[in-house]
Amino acid sequence: MEFFEALRRRRTTNGPFLSRAVSAEHQRLLVEAAAMAPSHFNSQPWRFVLVDDERLIGEVARVSGESMRRLMEEGTFWKRYRPYFRFSEEEMEEKRDGIHIDQLPKVLKPFRRQIFSDAGATLMNRFGVPKILAEDNRKLVAGSPLLLAVLLDRTEYRPGELSGFYSVFGMGAAVENVWLATTELGMGIQFVSTPMEFPEKWNEIKGLLEVPEDLELMAVYRLGYLPEEQRRPTIDWKSNHRKRLSQYVFRNTCAAPERDHPEPAVAREREEAAR
Ligand SMILES: Cc1cc2nc3c(=O)[nH]c(=O)nc-3n(C[C@H](O)[C@H](O)[C@H](O)COP(=O)(O)O)c2cc1C
Repeated sequence: MEFFEALRRRRTTNGPFLSRAVSAEHQRLLVEAAAMAPSHFNSQPWRFVLVDDERLIGEVARVSGESMRRLMEEGTFWKRYRPYFRFSEEEMEEKRDGIHIDQLPKVLKPFRRQIFSDAGATLMNRFGVPKILAEDNRKLVAGSPLLLAVLLDRTEYRPGELSGFYSVFGMGAAVENVWLATTELGMGIQFVSTPMEFPEKWNEIKGLLEVPEDLELMAVYRLGYLPEEQRRPTIDWKSNHRKRLSQYVFRNTCAAPERDHPEPAVAREREEAAR
């Protein structure tokens, strides 16, 4: 695959994966790709846990689903992440960032815009949405053949110090390598992020993975091979848009936005997929 094609095709997978196990060779390629990333003084502060034990994946899935339910029931999710939500293709087209929830259960469609108000949260609870989403989430994680936990060595990861910043920077590069490698291998990847919202839930995940004192658990991902036809979850979003050059690049100083190019070479295919 061409490098720029891989960049264009890299995606977050919201739907299910095939149940087929991820081959040992592909698992190895993913973590080897991660290790090709740059790091400060070549410190390679990242560590990974490859989880392919079905029981363990089921336990992480339970914690993830429980966290999703709480996040929705308490309305935290909608309040915390409100600025990122777009309500129409037109809004997406104008702002060119954020996510557009374009798939909602029929009963909720008329209330699309109210979801983010306190009344909206009450309504969602009345329709049992948190329970539905929690179960969707649990099933998505439980049905994933592979989890990848990303950790940092705490001798390098010292929040508040440059070394802490560098470690996170390098980890981001390593994760992007994994992400791009999934594209090449016909796989998908998604954050399992709901447990991070609640310290006690995150601790539960740390316990399940037996994370020692000298490591910090930073993120967990679910991975697997993509089915030919990708089914969308009950509530789903699109985020194919990317900002125009003039919205995020400057020339020489921050006072001069870069001029837009009529044909953004890398983003074009993504743009078309968004329509
Ligand atoms: C730091 C970070 C946190 C993210 N958290 C989540 C998440 O909690 N759940 C999720 O499904 N995707 C998550 N994503 C993926 C983004 O939503 C996604 O990259 C963005 O919407 C663009 O979509 P794309 O990856 O398909 O291009 C995260 C990405 C990053 C870099």
